Amino acid sequence: MSTTIDSLLHENRHFPPSAEFSANAIAKPEIYDEARADRLAFWATQARELHWHTPFTEVLDWSNAPFARWFGDGEINVAYNCLDRHVIAGHGDRVALHFEGEPGDTRSITYAELTSEVKKAANMLASLGVKQGDRVAIYMPVIPETVVAMLACARLGAIHSVIFGGFSAESLRSRIVDAGATVVITADGGYRKGSVFALKPAVDEAVAGIETVEHVVVVKRGGNEVVWNERDIWWHDAIAPMNDDHVAQGFESENPLFILYTSGTTGAPKGILHTSGGYLTQAAFTHRNVFDLHPETDVYWCTADVGWITGHSYVAYGPLANGATQVLYEGTPDFPEPGRWWDIIEKYKVSIFYTAPTAIRSFMKMGREIPQARDLSSLRVLGSVGEPINPEAWMWYREVIGGNTCPIVDTWWQTETGAIMIAAMPGITNTKPGSAQVPIPGITIDVVTEEGTHVGPEAGGLLVVSEPWPSMLRGIWGDPDRYKDTYWDKFGDKYFAGDGAHLDADGDVWLLGRVDDVMNVSGHRLSTMEIESALVSNHHVAEAAVIGASDETTGQAVVAFVILKRRAKEELGHADAIKELRAHVAKEIGAIARPRDIYLVEELPKTRSGKIMRRLLRDIAEGREIGDTSTLTDINVVTQIDNQVP
Ligand code: WT7
Repeated sequence: MSTTIDSLLHENRHFPPSAEFSANAIAKPEIYDEARADRLAFWATQARELHWHTPFTEVLDWSNAPFARWFGDGEINVAYNCLDRHVIAGHGDRVALHFEGEPGDTRSITYAELTSEVKKAANMLASLGVKQGDRVAIYMPVIPETVVAMLACARLGAIHSVIFGGFSAESLRSRIVDAGATVVITADGGYRKGSVFALKPAVDEAVAGIETVEHVVVVKRGGNEVVWNERDIWWHDAIAPMNDDHVAQGFESENPLFILYTSGTTGAPKGILHTSGGYLTQAAFTHRNVFDLHPETDVYWCTADVGWITGHSYVAYGPLANGATQVLYEGTPDFPEPGRWWDIIEKYKVSIFYTAPTAIRSFMKMGREIPQARDLSSLRVLGSVGEPINPEAWMWYREVIGGNTCPIVDTWWQTETGAIMIAAMPGITNTKPGSAQVPIPGITIDVVTEEGTHVGPEAGGLLVVSEPWPSMLRGIWGDPDRYKDTYWDKFGDKYFAGDGAHLDADGDVWLLGRVDDVMNVSGHRLSTMEIESALVSNHHVAEAAVIGASDETTGQAVVAFVILKRRAKEELGHADAIKELRAHVAKEIGAIARPRDIYLVEELPKTRSGKIMRRLLRDIAEGREIGDTSTLTDINVVTQIDNQVP
């Protein structure tokens, strides 16, 4: 890669907030000055918005870099901050969760009720032997019990590892093993597109033969039949005898809160570790300021699944720490009909809405008549996350969903950063369609060349975070060296995010996507390596190369180039082979990784040292002129593949 990255987007429109919005906004322009004047004092002030069992005196200890300690001598209970604190402050009757199940069943749960449920669940987990530092795997649909389970772990100082319900038994198993989980919490099944998808069978398959798993707790949701094993226990049976007295104990600020697995450039699962005080500080601060949350009046809805980082920071922890009222929706955006999301906004009078560009683009395709047939006038702030939002989608979001009045906050961050890092402030920023804009107060970022020097205005390069931040990952579970190598090796003192970015003449940031072998499908990171290993694990496959090719709806789509073994070529029809391989990847990793296209090829383009040149495959898949082929061993390979791709 060259030292700079060119960006071809030119965008001159901008949209300042209305005077009225700015006047009532939580964040006022002075916030930037305050943070700039003394970054650490600024974060200490934000942290003191939380309840500390033991107040901290130390803010940041970076002496053991890149392993940070934030508020290290303080003690905190994350669940207490999300629950008891609000009840004690007199907000027990405020709705915490408006749950909407896909079949249309609803439950509104107040802060008092949620607190009592979490206390019971904490007592239940404690009765199963869960204590501080133990790992609990959570594999669930998006239902209130999922949030209750996470908070119950947090309350006990145990570490949860939520695994997205779309992952396969194989992926689930490797994550349970890596974390050494002793308890798995799951459901019989959940609702998706009108039918029940079973979760329990995947858990049965995943935990078979794993001795460390002592209990599997099963929430009844789908009503589907389940096979019962010796270590299984129904959530409702286990909870029934529990009482709702539970005194939250303070844990040290650096007590681990959760592990969340994400994709890296190798196939091995990468358990991103987050801890308590710093994480909650930044999740709560950003949630309040970036979304301009007024907890007494706003109804907030983030459409992310709790199984991703967005669901951790902006469904579970940020909103609950702030005492927000939020919608929690189980199902798919377009079931039973394409307007379901907009119906939910109308029904609950959602005022703050946070979703992903991939969803916006799929609604654009269905047509504006669908949202326009609903009353969306309750909306006042719109958020976007997961991938760059193209200006066209941004404008559609603004006009059709936001009625030309709602500020749009595009939020850049990662599983590793734990919370939002770059975003507009809705009452301050003059927003530009497609730009993530500026780092939030208290965060310092830079765009640099391969050598680590600042690129200057109107230039592109690599995005880095130059100073430690409160919600930063504290490492990779069980692998400190991989943590250092992945994020700190390249620039030493700066965190390398793996993204390319461009700075415009005003210094605003435009994200350009990943620069490593990681792709972004519907706002979710997938590793090319992981999908390649899944393909190669099929006995018909000799070799495979996977790339992320741009896709109108999902941002990027998985495209695979596969060389079959000779026998497979003789025995299997072309269409059958492709069908089998797509199903194989879905089984190994999950439906999200299923390739959009698979091309069966004779040879893969390689450098003389034997590296697959994915860049050329990407050119082919995206129908571009094929780039520099000077390091290629055999140009015919590329020509042949090119002829195969429509
Ligand atoms: C990667 C992180 C953060 C929660 C969801 C994804 C891309 C994320 C944006 C944005 C441009 C974005 C980056 C990043 N990304 N948000 N607003 N604009 N790109 O979390 O799975 O850890 O993926 O998603 O490439 O590195 P994740």
